Amino acid sequence: MKILVTGATGTVGSQVVTELLARGASVRALTRDPAKADLPPEVEVVRGDLTDPATLTGVFDGVSGVHLITFGGEYFAPLTTGPEIVALAERAGVRRVTVLSGGGPTPLQDAVQASTGLDWTVVMPVEFMGNAAEWAPGVRDADQVREPFTDRLSAMVHERDIGAVAAVALTEDGHGGQSFLLTGPEVLTLRDKVDAIAAARGRAVELVELTEAEAVAEWRANGLPEDTVEFLIHVYGDTPVEGRTVSGVVEKITGRPGRTFAQWAREHAEEFRARGQGVS
Ligand SMILES: NC(=O)c1ccc[n+]([C@@H]2O[C@H](COP(=O)([O-])OP(=O)(O)OC[C@H]3O[C@@H](n4cnc5c(N)ncnc54)[C@H](OP(=O)(O)O)[C@@H]3O)[C@@H](O)[C@H]2O)c1
Repeated sequence: MKILVTGATGTVGSQVVTELLARGASVRALTRDPAKADLPPEVEVVRGDLTDPATLTGVFDGVSGVHLITFGGEYFAPLTTGPEIVALAERAGVRRVTVLSGGGPTPLQDAVQASTGLDWTVVMPVEFMGNAAEWAPGVRDADQVREPFTDRLSAMVHERDIGAVAAVALTEDGHGGQSFLLTGPEVLTLRDKVDAIAAARGRAVELVELTEAEAVAEWRANGLPEDTVEFLIHVYGDTPVEGRTVSGVVEKITGRPGRTFAQWAREHAEEFRARGQGVS
């Protein structure tokens, strides 16, 4: 069984690749730049740009399933080539498709869900645990995490579990026509997360509360576009209930509990250690 993974060099796609290989599937990975792709040697790497269907000739040939991203540009600009991508996949005889959803509708997701030939599964994660990697420079350099809305709650999900669910949907029957809301196994405060990072790195971390105005100023100074700033204020300031409720889907689909944030922090402890800090 061969599966095509788009976004394979990214946070989630790389985990889809790992989980597919662990399940014994063969993997073809799509990237715009094969020379830069750091993927396991057994993965077949092909060049293609999802914004330009002419570059996708042949990439769907011989695959039974495809993992699709819905974006194709800076700051996750939605792909407008969904109908062409779906037509190429259908024509090549692809059966199963997973779509990594950003939450809202996109032309690609709409085209996949409108397809009569594809057995599709939408994988809709809440906040990734991996987003906490953004804190690494501040933790390493100043032992600080600077965030607004420090009382906010999140059922953040480990990206490996997103990959695990997608891999099941791409290799087993019975998951077609469904949308899976993926969360982690617990609801955490920002303080819980900061404490988990402190425990993993073996050194205290201060949580500094920013006002909304201070946070907006920092995000703009970091070059975030205005719609992203607005999105962050919305999801952090008033997190939707599904973002702070454990869905249980990871365990239901993979048969084992979702990975915890403490585990994620231990896996990434080195990124948070101060220069010259010993390991306790
Ligand atoms: N962060 C969160 O908390 C969160 C929560 C829920 C949902 N999401 C959704 O998750 C998605 C982001 O996933 P991610 O973090 O795994 O992404 P990522 O790490 O930024 O990876 C981007 C991937 O997309 C590929 N890519 C980008 N443009 C492409 C194009 N034109 N043609 C072919 N490949 C292209 C890149 O491949 P190459 O560079 O190798 O070509 C790379 O593998 C977004 O849809 C976001 O809305 C995020």
